[in-house]
Amino acid sequence: MSSLSSLDPRARAWNLAMAASPGNLDLTIDPAQIEGQVPVALRGGRMLSNGPGWTQIGGRIAHPFDGHGYVRSFQLLEDGSCNLKARFVGTRVYKDEAAAGRMLHRGFATNVSDSFWKNLGFGVPRNVANTTILRWGTRLLAGWEGGLPHALDPASLETLGEDSFDGAITGQPTLAHMHHDAARQRLLLCSLGMGRNTTLTFREVDRDRRVVQTRQATLPGSVFAHDFAFTPRWYILGGNPLQMKWGALARMVAGSGTLLGSVRPDDGKPGIFHLIPREEDGPVRTITLPDKCFVVHFGNAFERDDGTVVIDVCAFARFDFGEEFGYTGPNTPFDPSLPDARGPQKLYRATIAPGATTATWERLAPYGVDFPRVHPHHEGQDTPLLFGATRADTRYSDPFDSVVRVDLHDRGAPVQLWTAPAGTFVGEPIYVPNSDGGHVLVIVSDPLQARSTLAILRAGDFSAGPMARIHVPLLPVAFHGDWDPA
Ligand SMILES: [Fe+2]
Repeated sequence: MSSLSSLDPRARAWNLAMAASPGNLDLTIDPAQIEGQVPVALRGGRMLSNGPGWTQIGGRIAHPFDGHGYVRSFQLLEDGSCNLKARFVGTRVYKDEAAAGRMLHRGFATNVSDSFWKNLGFGVPRNVANTTILRWGTRLLAGWEGGLPHALDPASLETLGEDSFDGAITGQPTLAHMHHDAARQRLLLCSLGMGRNTTLTFREVDRDRRVVQTRQATLPGSVFAHDFAFTPRWYILGGNPLQMKWGALARMVAGSGTLLGSVRPDDGKPGIFHLIPREEDGPVRTITLPDKCFVVHFGNAFERDDGTVVIDVCAFARFDFGEEFGYTGPNTPFDPSLPDARGPQKLYRATIAPGATTATWERLAPYGVDFPRVHPHHEGQDTPLLFGATRADTRYSDPFDSVVRVDLHDRGAPVQLWTAPAGTFVGEPIYVPNSDGGHVLVIVSDPLQARSTLAILRAGDFSAGPMARIHVPLLPVAFHGDWDPA
């Protein structure tokens, strides 16, 4: 990458945060090194996080979607200390590229070379297992778009291999976002088949990793999906119709251009949701939204007693692929101002009456919200609080510098905001409800001080700021995480 010294401080900091690659870590942070105290209610549990941990590969900057999965575990111990363990996910492509010291496998958004003839064909899918991490039974699952999740040993974080659930999803690209229906003690998976139409297969897995329910649906055309929501009776997907950019597709096949650059959202169409029956096979309900809507992340969904469906969702009014996180290409620095051009993601509550084909919606926060999280045992149910990552400047969403708290039951309550110190960036907030009123954990990247901080906020009141700050070496910006109480 060209020198960062010519960049403004924010751009320089963002590039340092994206490029950080401290490798495998095993660190203990003593209570004396922690600002404040780790709340007793959190001790014994850990925060997990996954995201690209190696993006500058042999002199090429991989798009963050193509960076190697790097799982971080902040274990909070009973004596008030913290153990940080971090490991790369031992995927096939990670092992190959770690041995070679350079990119060997073409990704969604990154070619292995600027010379087109070195990019011909696709070979091994670049499943870098870098997007999500969650505990299910005796395994951790590191999810990725377009392939199978990888299973990790929960204690050592060593990679056990791709997890097909005993063959149930072999060969079926499965969304990185998996959901926990605590009411039914099930893990929900969605596999996606793309073609002239989009084939969806939802599977529900019990605690013993058995697939106990399978539902299929077909949506017309090509649909982008990264996340879904659910209620007791429905699976919910954003419409997100895609158009092929045929010229770009031809260039991609010929070795220049990328898969991500070959598609674009079809923004001539209205925003829609698809509601797929969960309890029995039946017709998909297509719901037209009041505005254009491109969905990356859902907050939650639930049903009222009369069958009304309520969906909390982060929606772009318009979107294009390729410049996520300010990515500008394999040889040039990230530009953190690029996401500003597409406008903020807005957090909406959509309401769909029984039998309706349209929704109404209202905005839930004046900020541009992404990475929404609710009570981990309330997914699919009515729940009082939603947390998300945001920017204090309401015109924009990311890179995030703040955490937002939205009271879903008391709509008159002001939306709370905690903004991290100037020059830093925040990741996804993880909400941990507990006997102490609940906490929100968020990793703050402070690249100019070469450190990251796990900040712990009171879920009920952000005004006092973090009650504990655990400082560690600078970690790369992560995507998604989870709280593992065990
Ligand atoms: Fe995501």
